[in-house]
Amino acid sequence: MSFRPFTDTWILARPKVRYFGAYPAGFLLKARDLIGCGYGDSVLHVCAGRVRDYKCGPGCPGSNSVTHFHGQGEYDLTWDLDRSLKPDLIADDCESSAWGSIITAHPQIQGVLADPPYTDWYAQHYLVNTSGAQRPTPNSIVTNAINILPVGGRVGILSMEWPRYPKTRARQIAVVHVLVGNGNIGRTFAVYERTG
Ligand SMILES: C[S@@+](CC[C@H](N)C(=O)[O-])C[C@H]1O[C@@H](n2cnc3c(N)ncnc32)[C@H](O)[C@@H]1O
Repeated sequence: MSFRPFTDTWILARPKVRYFGAYPAGFLLKARDLIGCGYGDSVLHVCAGRVRDYKCGPGCPGSNSVTHFHGQGEYDLTWDLDRSLKPDLIADDCESSAWGSIITAHPQIQGVLADPPYTDWYAQHYLVNTSGAQRPTPNSIVTNAINILPVGGRVGILSMEWPRYPKTRARQIAVVHVLVGNGNIGRTFAVYERTG
């Protein structure tokens, strides 16, 4: 490998949101930092699940201010096929055309965070997949995200793989091992930036 991306290990607390495959506590904010997006940037959350629930607790002062937020930006968009989660966008992200429609309607998107089901076994825990929808692969999500992002825009994806990426149009920024404690599986958070 000619270029070694930034590497790190994040040891985070177990998820606080009750949803199968939920992000570890604190993950969203760190992930957002690595894709270079602030509170006012528009991040597209792919396979969003219950991302909207990652908020400060009731009564927490300044929970929606620029200096105090848990990774959820004011102009973010959530995308999931499960309409019961009330995402902003309901579509199958295995379909490349859906990505094109989304960026046409929302050209302000600056970054992408994705958390697809990790394996076929994991996918069987989601209503949409047991109802027939395919599981999007990490490789396809990275390619589709790079295609819609502006040059300099980044996609970060949590998975059990180290995804491939389109080398002529993107560069690899970071690959992080994400752990939540002994006896739990580890996951990989990989970040790529569009270059051309
Ligand atoms: C690992 S969960 C995401 C959990 C999320 N990170 C959280 O903390 O709540 C994966 C999500 O992918 C969605 N999904 C699965 N297949 C999909 C598809 N083909 N298109 C869009 N969403 C899909 C599922 O409905 C599920 O909410």
